[in-house]
Amino acid sequence: MELKNKVAVVTGVSKGIGHALCKQLLAKGMRVFGLGRTVAADMDDEQFHFIACDVQSSESVKLAFEHIYKQVDEVHVLVNNAGLGYFGYLENVPEEEWHQMFNTNIHGMFYCLKEVLPQMKKSQYGHIINIASTAALEGMAMVSAYCATKWAVKGLSESLFREVRDFRIKVTCVYPGSTKTDFFRNSPGIQPHDYMLMPEDVALMMVQALETPDNFHTVNLEIRPLQPKGPKK
Ligand SMILES: NC(=O)c1ccc[n+]([C@@H]2O[C@H](COP(=O)([O-])OP(=O)(O)OC[C@H]3O[C@@H](n4cnc5c(N)ncnc54)[C@H](OP(=O)(O)O)[C@@H]3O)[C@@H](O)[C@H]2O)c1
Repeated sequence: MELKNKVAVVTGVSKGIGHALCKQLLAKGMRVFGLGRTVAADMDDEQFHFIACDVQSSESVKLAFEHIYKQVDEVHVLVNNAGLGYFGYLENVPEEEWHQMFNTNIHGMFYCLKEVLPQMKKSQYGHIINIASTAALEGMAMVSAYCATKWAVKGLSESLFREVRDFRIKVTCVYPGSTKTDFFRNSPGIQPHDYMLMPEDVALMMVQALETPDNFHTVNLEIRPLQPKGPKK
């Protein structure tokens, strides 16, 4: 897709991967609608439109897309990025954290997809990117609740890809390994460090996937740091 002058919606734009991605999409000449609860002070590009939205709420997502479709006829790109993780032994995971993860990581994705799919199908064009995690590819002790949400993202993405390919809509699922963002704030055992992936690099892979020719489709993007613990001593 030629990105210049196309319209993207990205969820979770205040920091981390979503923030880095918005910057890169704007640099490509896209008009970007950022859905989130908060926004960074440096998002001052006139082609960037922040819409306050908590993706956990279907009503909030509905209102955000009503606002978007008042301004544009078509959304060409949707990136479902908003997400969070809590960690620990499953029996110790508070119900509130369990629901917050599912509500954000998978229900929020569903609400956004429902808003764009009818229009993308009508336009016979679009690219959806869902951010999963390498936690969607393997089970991990103390990560069972978060893994469960991301395995759901994987299942949804692989199925949706087959559902909409004949409408010329691409669905790419991204599986990043540990990335140096604020994501680990709820994980006291892990401090972000420079051997993790950088959010800008994860964003770049997504931009490259978006820029591929119309009949070329990156179904899955598994991205890992080569030496997550640093060079072998
Ligand atoms: N960092 C990693 O190692 C890693 C690895 C694999 C996958 N991922 C996934 O990558 C995605 C981005 O994470 P990140 O690493 O960039 O983490 P981050 O720095 O914590 O950023 C998460 C973003 O999601 C937003 N968000 C959270 N809950 C939201 C809600 N209910 N409604 C709207 N926005 C919400 C946050 O906004 P607020 O500031 O308003 O909370 C923030 O902008 C997530 O889906 C995460 O699961 C991360």
